[in-house]
Amino acid sequence: MTITQDGPHSTTAGEKRGMNLTLRVWRQKDPTVKGKMVTYKVTDISPDMSFLEMLDVLNEQLIMQGDDPVAFDHDCREGICGMCGLMINGEAHGPQQTTTCQLHMRSFKDGDKIDIEPWRANPFPVIKDLAVDRRAFDRIIQAGGYISVPTGTPPRRTPRRCRRRTRTPPSTPRPASAAVRAWPRARTRRRCCSPPPRSPTSG
Ligand code: FES
Repeated sequence: MTITQDGPHSTTAGEKRGMNLTLRVWRQKDPTVKGKMVTYKVTDISPDMSFLEMLDVLNEQLIMQGDDPVAFDHDCREGICGMCGLMINGEAHGPQQTTTCQLHMRSFKDGDKIDIEPWRANPFPVIKDLAVDRRAFDRIIQAGGYISVPTGTPPRRTPRRCRRRTRTPPSTPRPASAAVRAWPRARTRRRCCSPPPRSPTSG
């Protein structure tokens, strides 16, 4: 993959070329200075990359050029923690209803211009570039605050035939004391359709 700013692509004949994108990224050195949008080009971006991986490519490019990488928040990169909030083309988390780390570059087209800004709100001042100070939110949580928003029910499990699994007997029989010690652990490993294991002491 090419990470040079304007150089030719390093694709070989027959290899699928990635996307070339123009990014306008909010750059702000610290909370005391005024920020501005800065334009960068990234080339040969795979449609299967996540949006944050695309930002990683940009940062590698900036580091190789001796520039300051773009600061942005992330943690799990699995759509769980909610740390990766960004405004993408003026929309929270971009064009899909998902977290930024779960947004894939296939949601964009080759040649697109993408505006990337921090999540702007008065209680969340910008610390640097795309990273904001979330301590106001932490204080609300610490004070016991919560919101009541209907988020729907958990997704239904795919109906699947439940096959009973047979247990393989251990190669060497355990002494009774070891079986008693293993009892609470065995109880927590209950299979979906197996009857609950019997206590070794209950006879
Ligand atoms: S980094 Fe955790 S939800 Fe995106």
